[in-house]
Amino acid sequence: MTIDLHPTQTPLSDEERRQRLQSPGFGRIFTEHMISIKYTADKGWGPSTLVPYGPITLDPAAAVLHYGQAIFEGFKAYRHANGGIVTFRPEANALRFAASARRLAMPELPVDRFLEAARVLITQDQAWVPSREGESLYIRPLLVATEAFLGVRPSHEYLFLLFASPAGAYFPGGVKPVTVWISDDYVRAAPGGTGTAKCAGNYAASLVAQSKALEQGCDQVVWLDAVERHWVEEMGGMNIFFVFERGGYPRLVTPSLETGTLLPGITRDSLLTLARDLGWEAEERRVSVEEWDEGLETGLIKEVFACGTAAVITPIGTVKSKRGTWEVGDGKAGPIATRLRTLLLDVQHGRVPDTHGWLTAMVPA
Ligand code: PLP
Ligand code: COI
Repeated sequence: MTIDLHPTQTPLSDEERRQRLQSPGFGRIFTEHMISIKYTADKGWGPSTLVPYGPITLDPAAAVLHYGQAIFEGFKAYRHANGGIVTFRPEANALRFAASARRLAMPELPVDRFLEAARVLITQDQAWVPSREGESLYIRPLLVATEAFLGVRPSHEYLFLLFASPAGAYFPGGVKPVTVWISDDYVRAAPGGTGTAKCAGNYAASLVAQSKALEQGCDQVVWLDAVERHWVEEMGGMNIFFVFERGGYPRLVTPSLETGTLLPGITRDSLLTLARDLGWEAEERRVSVEEWDEGLETGLIKEVFACGTAAVITPIGTVKSKRGTWEVGDGKAGPIATRLRTLLLDVQHGRVPDTHGWLTAMVPA
């Protein structure tokens, strides 16, 4: 495979780039290029092209603007001390992207085309990969339906884009525990719905619940299952872990994926493995709101945290709901969340051996 390269004719100066990289925050600044691939039902996937990052044009009748065929992904590239640049488990993102496409009746981009797009963009824009602690280059692939047709059926034309955003901390407060609002009235996903897909509509539908959480003085919403409003599913756009303690040993529990209503997080999966590497028990099963409440009361639950690519691990410090307010721990990040966060970041930044083969070299050292 080859990619047609059409780089910008007006590159930024080193000084201008350094300024933009000063305090990147999350999702506000973008590198100078993007990868674009068109798909048509007749011809399938067209060639990949690297073009300057910038606005795209869409027909006002483009299907995505009306019926929401839109999926995306998110993963990170890290600059290692030896100068090489790696990404963390990008095939897992490519496979989830394909699964999301299937759920939305969209065409699947082959995994090798997805990985090639990432490699070419990261190579072109390698100067944009930050190197300070806690920083990375967030890669955002997306696929949208572009056919100008108002009938309701899968679009015959699509546009794949992959662009990148230098990133610092996702939550401006750092690893400070967040306060969450348990949503009883809005749900994120129902059985048979799109909860396992990373599709735009899931996030649109979450915003009003997130606003309600803010109104209640909370940072984030916690989702319950749609049927019984009893089982804990996720926190905002992150998976959730409970740390139980038995006989002095931690036991991690995270809601199981069986219900088909959770986003199968790659951070979640990685933490299950890392916890077992540390000799801890790690279990996937359902956890009810009552078990959460009682576990805090009896002291069986020591910590609760959320995890995802953007924010890595975020401890939950206070839980508010119509049932009342509960405190988790002492208002600081707990030792288990802290240990796992450090270990995961050490793997990603190449400070400890990559024993699971999770890192893919994008730019050689
Ligand atoms: N849950 C939701 C709804 C998400 O949007 C994300 C983010 O991608 C996650 C969980 C965490 O997934 P990952 O660890 O793959 O980033
Ligand atoms: C995550 O990485 O945890 C996310 O949910 C990404 C978000 C910006 C959609």
